[in-house]
Amino acid sequence: MRRYPLTRMRRLRAHEFSRRLVCEHRLGTDDLVWPMFVCEGEGRREAVAAMPGVERLSIDEAVKDAREAYRLGVQATALFPVVDDPAAKSEDARVAYADDGLVQRAVAALKAAEPGLGVITDVALDPYTTHGQDGIMRDGEIVNDETVSVLEKQAVSHAGAGADMVAPSDMMDGRIGRIRAALDAAGHTRTSILAYSAKYASAFYGPFRDAVGSAAALGSADKRTYQMDAANSEEALAEAALDISEGADIVMVKPGMPYLDVVRRVSERFDAPVFVYQVSGEYAMLKTAAAAACIDERACVMEALTAFKRAGARAILTYYAREVAAWLNE
Ligand code: PBG
Repeated sequence: MRRYPLTRMRRLRAHEFSRRLVCEHRLGTDDLVWPMFVCEGEGRREAVAAMPGVERLSIDEAVKDAREAYRLGVQATALFPVVDDPAAKSEDARVAYADDGLVQRAVAALKAAEPGLGVITDVALDPYTTHGQDGIMRDGEIVNDETVSVLEKQAVSHAGAGADMVAPSDMMDGRIGRIRAALDAAGHTRTSILAYSAKYASAFYGPFRDAVGSAAALGSADKRTYQMDAANSEEALAEAALDISEGADIVMVKPGMPYLDVVRRVSERFDAPVFVYQVSGEYAMLKTAAAAACIDERACVMEALTAFKRAGARAILTYYAREVAAWLNE
């Protein structure tokens, strides 16, 4: 490499035009997926205390907001149900695959109103179990294979309602292969699978658990027997390899900012697209720091999302999606 004084790295940084020309990663609205919380009712909008600016929306309101986001260029929404009726929660999580369930109705309404908007559903049992765990519990243990049998039904019912992409976030072993087979057997060969491959047992999910109300059910329990240890990244590669071999179309790393190294490693190793989830705790940190006037919100958000692209992410799930799309449109 030529050295100083022949090389002056600052030459290309000197002008706006040359900074733009050499820019390696540009965030666009095409990169954005908007996670939304849907609840029962009509005309219902409820603020989530731990996530300023985020609301739980009844289906009619969710349709309005999703359409607005789509007009701004957001490509897809990821749906999370707020199941507040205790009768919808059980030991066997059977409401997860009810054809007239909240998620199933939300999917149908969104696809009817805005067919071009991608609709992604969460495949996991935590909204539907009495204990708030992502799987079926036997003698205090989350049993793998029995849980996957329920996840198969849940994924098929989401696809039947019109979901474009199902996103298993449960971290059970073998679920991608079994869900792929179940979808295909039901004729849903075109429904894609976004696998939460490297999903860590993270404290950054705290605000989400408040938003969907699973925090109370979970109590002091944790999800460490299925979600990954924050100390590991070799294991993330093993998880991604398995999911891809079982038929995942996309692999995801979650959370985002504390795990940029994992995004980089997974994206370098595999050809499959890698998505990243900027989770509720990351959103809450940015929002509260901005509200306290400690940071420039817009600049920090754009920087954080651009960093995901730099690390190798193809698309980003972020609660900021609609706001960022509006900024990008200015
Ligand atoms: C549940 C699920 C969680 C998130 C997405 N799906 C929480 C958890 O695993 O406890 C977290 C999302 C976020 O924090 O923004 N299967």
